[in-house]
Amino acid sequence: IPVDPFDLVIFGGTGDLAQRKIVPALFRRYCAGQWPEATRIIGAARGALTVESFRDIVAESLRQYAPKRSKDPEAVNGFLQRINYVPLDALSEDGWAPLSELLSTDRIRAFYFSVGPRLFGPLAERIRAHNLATPQTRIVVEKPFGHDLESARALNATLASHFDEGQIYRIDHYLGKETVQNLMAVRFGNMLFEPLWNSQYVDHIQITVAETVGIDGREEYYERAGAMRDMMQNHLMQLLCLIAMEPPAKFDPDAVRDEKLKVIRALDPVEPHHIVRGQFAGGKQGRGYREVVGNNRSTTESYVALRAHISNWRWAGTPFYLRTGKELVARSSVINVMFKDAPHSIFGEEAGRHANALSIRLQPNEGITLKVTIKEPGQGGMRLVDVPLDMSFAEALGPENQDPPDAYERLVMDVIRGNQTLFMRGDEVEAAWAWTDPIIAGWQARGDVPKPYENGSTGPGDAELLMKRDHRRWQGIN
Ligand code: BG6
Repeated sequence: IPVDPFDLVIFGGTGDLAQRKIVPALFRRYCAGQWPEATRIIGAARGALTVESFRDIVAESLRQYAPKRSKDPEAVNGFLQRINYVPLDALSEDGWAPLSELLSTDRIRAFYFSVGPRLFGPLAERIRAHNLATPQTRIVVEKPFGHDLESARALNATLASHFDEGQIYRIDHYLGKETVQNLMAVRFGNMLFEPLWNSQYVDHIQITVAETVGIDGREEYYERAGAMRDMMQNHLMQLLCLIAMEPPAKFDPDAVRDEKLKVIRALDPVEPHHIVRGQFAGGKQGRGYREVVGNNRSTTESYVALRAHISNWRWAGTPFYLRTGKELVARSSVINVMFKDAPHSIFGEEAGRHANALSIRLQPNEGITLKVTIKEPGQGGMRLVDVPLDMSFAEALGPENQDPPDAYERLVMDVIRGNQTLFMRGDEVEAAWAWTDPIIAGWQARGDVPKPYENGSTGPGDAELLMKRDHRRWQGIN
């Protein structure tokens, strides 16, 4: 469904995120016919580029990051015709008047802050000072949204002094992933799961976001962030919220975000012995973290595993084990809901213990597997065996759905539609930092050093112990 005509200004338009994610996503939506004729994209950055040279940069990005669709010259040219560029400085008045002249008064206006958070305030101020904000204006900000609670509060306050909360779109791109949204569809679109979705039936839940990539090219940012700030505080926290929240009354921005916020606020502080930090140490599959960042004393974690508890009626007593890391054996984001054993086995001890498990694979090979117990074939008495009831979304939904829209496609279009459901509210971000900060402060106070793990492994051995102590084990990363 086409959206209303819009002008989208991308601050940091020549940057990596803009060219790798935002512009290709806009191009794919353009190809899908979702843009009305009048729509325009305006890149804004400090470089003194001409419109033509900016279009060349965009054309190259399309070739690289939207290879399939960029083979159609008509589509590429049509898209490039709608691209403009203004040299502009966030920290001075340079370029703001020309930008103002380019903007149309009767369209939706979105400003995408694809820049570091230190420029959020200056950009917001200048948008106001130059009268560029209309009632139809939205601003989009990227993570990291602050470095800790204090800085997130300050950012929220700055943005709030220029824009209403309803105009601020804080991106967590995990929420734009098709399968992450599917979490809500699976939970709240089916009668089957919800009655069992509580501590009475669920033994524990595992959330794994494993990555094979390292941190090359982002050393400076990552050294200050680490896995806790880079992944746990936002992406894994969002997954935790979606898996644990109460059913919202409606699929409506505030109804959904109210429920997510309640989950974060109900999280207990994490006990130090329930956290494992790791750092990739090199090996056959690449260089160690310290070598990559050029600091042989770095104590930044590239891996973190922890056990969290949500103190509310639904989840009291059910641990949530979360882990994420870089340079691991496989790229795999999966949520495993591990059900309790049946209360009594009518087949006797020799049939073994069996429990159901629901795995929701977010990427790759998106789909759902339900582990069920059946009789092992054969004559020799009643033996049980676990088998998967397996569903891959791509197979189940047919070939036309093999290539689901990228997270940014969905999110950028939601900005234009004015739908904030898949964006983080200010109070949510602050609550997530309030939970994260004491964990990081504890490491600093104790002088904690992350455990080394080999590149291409499943992470540090201590993460296995975290489970073993509770007589549980991680489901494999694959
Ligand atoms: C980003 C993190 O937000 O998410 C990166 O900063 C991480 O460190 C990336 O690699 C993971 O995203 P995806 O979509 O590849 O799972």
